[in-house]
Amino acid sequence: MNAPTMQGLNLNAPAYVKNPRLLAWVADMAALCKPDNIFWCDGSKEEYDRLCEQLVKAGTFKKLNPAKRPDSFLACSDPSDVARVEDRTYICSAQKEDAGPTNNWMEPAQMRATLQPLFDGCMKGRTMYVVPFSMGPLGSPIAHIGVELTDSAYVAVNQRLMTRMGKAVYDVLGVDGEFVPCMHTVGAPLAAGETDKTSWPCNPTVKYIVHYPETREIWSYGSGYGGNALLGKKCLALRIASTMGKSQGWLAEHMLILGVTNPQGKKYHVAAAFPSACGKTNFSMLVPPTAFEGWKVTTIGDDIAWIKPQADGSLRAINPEAGYFGVAPGTNTLTNPNCMASLDKDVIFTNVALTDDGDVWWEGMDKDSGKLPDHLIDWQGKDWTPAIAKETGAKAAHPNARFTVAATNNPALDSAWDDPAGVTIDAFIFGGRRSTTVPLVTEARSWTEGVYMAATMGSETTAAAFGQQGVVRRDPFAMLPFCGYNMSDYFQHWLNMGDKITAAGGKQPKIYTTNWFRKDAAGKFVWPGYGENMRVLKWMIDRIEGKAQGEETMFGVAPQYAEINWTGLEFSPEQFNTVTSIDKAAWTEELKLHTTHFEQLAYHLPQALLDTKAAIEKRLSA
Ligand code: GTP
Ligand code: SPV
Ligand code: MN
Repeated sequence: MNAPTMQGLNLNAPAYVKNPRLLAWVADMAALCKPDNIFWCDGSKEEYDRLCEQLVKAGTFKKLNPAKRPDSFLACSDPSDVARVEDRTYICSAQKEDAGPTNNWMEPAQMRATLQPLFDGCMKGRTMYVVPFSMGPLGSPIAHIGVELTDSAYVAVNQRLMTRMGKAVYDVLGVDGEFVPCMHTVGAPLAAGETDKTSWPCNPTVKYIVHYPETREIWSYGSGYGGNALLGKKCLALRIASTMGKSQGWLAEHMLILGVTNPQGKKYHVAAAFPSACGKTNFSMLVPPTAFEGWKVTTIGDDIAWIKPQADGSLRAINPEAGYFGVAPGTNTLTNPNCMASLDKDVIFTNVALTDDGDVWWEGMDKDSGKLPDHLIDWQGKDWTPAIAKETGAKAAHPNARFTVAATNNPALDSAWDDPAGVTIDAFIFGGRRSTTVPLVTEARSWTEGVYMAATMGSETTAAAFGQQGVVRRDPFAMLPFCGYNMSDYFQHWLNMGDKITAAGGKQPKIYTTNWFRKDAAGKFVWPGYGENMRVLKWMIDRIEGKAQGEETMFGVAPQYAEINWTGLEFSPEQFNTVTSIDKAAWTEELKLHTTHFEQLAYHLPQALLDTKAAIEKRLSA
C-alpha cells in the first residue's frame, strides 16, 4: 500500500496504482474536498454489485423485479437535476477568443478562485470514489485515459457501463502515463453526524461544469446527472478532446457511427451528427424494413466519434465510449427493437416511471401508444394514473429520462466496435429537428458546401438540456454545447480536414443533411422515421455507388421520388413533396438567420463559408 496521509485521512491506494502524479493529485483533492473515506474502484462485477446494493440501501436505487428486468435498477433524481446545464457550462481558456462566442467563459484564475471555496470540504461526510477509465479501447494509441474523483456512487456504477473502467487502466497508465483529471462533486457536504435527507443529493442552486482546455482539467460541481457528472462523455470525449483534435489534427464529434451492409456483403460506414435527443441512438440501431431484405445496419457508436485522418487520405473513426446513455421516452419495439432488446437486463434507468409489478415504463413505450398502464409511480415518486395524466398533463417519465447500458447488450453491435483501428467513414450526415423549411435529405455538392450546411444547421431545442424546449437555435455540427474552442476555428479545422484528405490522395466522404422531423399543418410528423430512415440511407449508398442521379436544388442534390425504394410503405409523391419541397419564402427567412449566426461568429469565420452563402443567396434570388 502507498500510504501518504492527508489531514488524518489515509489514501489507502492499492499497490497497483504506481503513478506518482495521480497519487499526488488524489492526495491534494482529498485534502481539498475532505471526504470521510477514499474508495479506489477496481471495475469488477463484485464491486459493481456491492455499490448497487449500497445505492439500494441509501434509497437512490430501486431494484427492479428480477423476473421482469434482471439486475436492473431505477434511480430518480432531484427535480432540479434532470439534464445538462448549458448556462452553467464554461470553457476557461486563457484567452476569451479561444472559447469563442458560443461558450461561457471566465478567466481561469477567477474561475479557480470561484471554485476553491465551493470544493473546500465539499465531500464532508461522504466517500470519494477514484474512478479510472479509458475513452477508447484500453491501451490503444488513440485512446485517452481519465480519472474521475466523485462523491457519487451512482456516477461510479454508471461509469462502469459507459467506459472501460477499472484496474486495467492503471496498467496502461503505468508510472508516467498521462490522464485527464476529472473532479466531480454533487456539492452537498454533510455536517458531522448528519445523514442525507434526500436519495439524490445535489446542489439545487449552485452548479458549475468547468473545463480548462490548456491544462486539460475538468471540474464539475453541484449536479449528479448525465453529461454534468459522467465526465468521460461530453466533458472529456467532446469538449477537451475537440481541443486536442484541433492541435493534433483530428476530430472529436457528437456523432453516431454505423455500419451498413448490402445484400452482396459490401459494407459502408456512416457517421451522423444530430443534436441531443434528435435520433442518433435510434439511427445507429436501425432495423431495415422488410423490403430491404439482406441489408444490415450495425452499431459502432451512438453518441460520440473520434475521427483521425490516415496517411492514405482515409478517415478512421472510433467510438470512445463503451455504453449508451440513451433517451427512454419514445423508445418501443416498433421504433427501435434493438434498443428495447438492449434493455432486457443489466440496466440503470434514471427518471422513468415504476410499474406496480416492479418494472419500468415511459411515454411511448407501448407500440400501441393508446395503451396506458392503470397505475404507476412517476419519476417524482407520485401516483400516476391515466386520469391524473389527462387532468394535469403529468408525465410519468421525465422527457429526458435515460437508460445506461453496456454496448455489449446491443444485438446490433458491430463486430468492429472495439477495434482500435476504427472504421473508414464513407459519408457524414448532419440532421436537425425542424418542423418546417429543411427538406428530408440533401447531398452537398462539395466538402465546403457540406461544411456550410453543417455550420448553419438549426434545430428545435429538446429536454436533453435544461431550459426552454422547442425553439429553433443554430446548433452547428450538433456541437453547440460541446465544442471546446472557438466555433469559427472549428469550421476552419473542418475545411482543413477536407484539404488534407485530398492532399493525401484520399476521397472526401460525401456530406448529407437530413430532417426526419417536418410536420404537417395538423402538427403531425409527415415522415414515418425510425426504421423507414433506411430508405434515405439506401439512397445515400446509391449516390456513393453512382447509381442515383438525384436532382439539383438550391442547396445541393436531392432524391427524385422514383429513386427511393417505396416497397412496403405507402408514401405518395404528394407526401414526398411535403417532406422535400423547398419554400423560397421560408428559405429567404432562413438565410437571414444564417446572416445573424455568421455575424455572431465573425471572429475567424472562414471566408469560404461567406462565399458559399453568397452563392446560395444568388441561386435563391434567381
Ligand atoms: P442524445 O443521447 O441526447 O445525444 O440523443 P440522440 O440523438 O441519441 O437521440 P435518440 O436517438 O435517443 O432520440 C431521441 C428522441 O427522438 C426519441 O424520443 C425518439 O423517439 C425520437 N426519434 C428518433 N428518431 C426519430 C425519427 O426518425 N423520427 C421521429 N419523428 N422521431 C425520432
Ligand atoms: C446529450 O445531451 O447529447 C446526451 C446526454 O447525449 S448527456 O450525456 O446528459 O449529455
Ligand atoms: Mn449526445
